[in-house]
Amino acid sequence: MEKRIIIGSDHGGFSLKTAFKNRLIENGFQVEDVGCFDEKSIHYPTIAKEVAGRISAGESEKGILICGTGIGMSIAANRFRNVRATLCHDHFTAKMAREHNNSNILVLGGRVIGEEIAFEILETWLSTEFAGGRHLERISMFDL
Ligand code: RB5
Repeated sequence: MEKRIIIGSDHGGFSLKTAFKNRLIENGFQVEDVGCFDEKSIHYPTIAKEVAGRISAGESEKGILICGTGIGMSIAANRFRNVRATLCHDHFTAKMAREHNNSNILVLGGRVIGEEIAFEILETWLSTEFAGGRHLERISMFDL
């Protein structure tokens, strides 16, 4: 597993992003934080574009985006080719996002879930492999 990850949030996800960043660094990850850097209100698409653009360009295999609900970040990130940004709410959705959808951006709603559930999602998402096979055929159908 590549131990490099790009992470970004808006103000609604800032607190959870900070907790994730610390946890990832503790676990030996090289974390590239593209902001935001405080709780001042910002426009989440700016951050979504920064992270998704880099993943789309192949700069890193995996990224994380956090806003208030995770919805805006998902919509914005999934406009980029080769980006599969998945909004996860629990262990099951995180597992399926990797196994079936080969998720390369984990999206979370910082105002929706608590920190412990979020850590569990992160752990599952990082450690679950893509199943390939019929799922590869399916994700290959995404491009227009
Ligand atoms: C910001 O108030 C909020 O709209 C944003 O964090 C996110 O939830 C958007 O989808």
